[in-house]
Amino acid sequence: MKKILLLSFIGILISCKKENQENFDKPTSEVATLKPEELGKEIFQGKGVCYTCHKEEVKTVGPAIKDIAKIYKEKGGSIAEFLKEKSEPIVDPSQYTTMKTNFAITKNLPEEELKALEAYMLSFSK
Ligand code: HEC
Repeated sequence: MKKILLLSFIGILISCKKENQENFDKPTSEVATLKPEELGKEIFQGKGVCYTCHKEEVKTVGPAIKDIAKIYKEKGGSIAEFLKEKSEPIVDPSQYTTMKTNFAITKNLPEEELKALEAYMLSFSK
């Protein structure tokens, strides 16, 4: 009896470990604990390298996230569509060529991650 208990205990331990391992292998987007805004922030600061040109409050190379959010909310635009190069720039069209270089990155992101970027950016306009 003791042996069986011990064996099943070891079995549970092993299967727990396996589950953790699987979570590690998943892309960040599938880890359920992240809200879209949080995932968006991660991409914005991480593999999207958006932060190099977009600061939260002030215009640098690109417009401030706050200003982009405000205009997209007012005009009801879709940032996700813009990042797929499916809609025209509405914030600062005169600087569009600089932003265009990033479509090489954003066009390869899954829809879910584009939506997350959108949610993150829009969260700056309450
Ligand atoms: C090399 C600098 C640079 C980087 C990196 C960059 N941007 Fe931009 N971005 C710009 C500039 C300049 C503009 C203004 C031109 C425009 O409005 O299209 C802009 C505009 C935008 C706009 C407003 C578009 C509109 O409708 O006018 C969004 C949304 C945006 N960027 C999102 C992003 C995201 C998301 C990333 C990261 C994947 C990113 N940007 C990375 C320079 C950059």
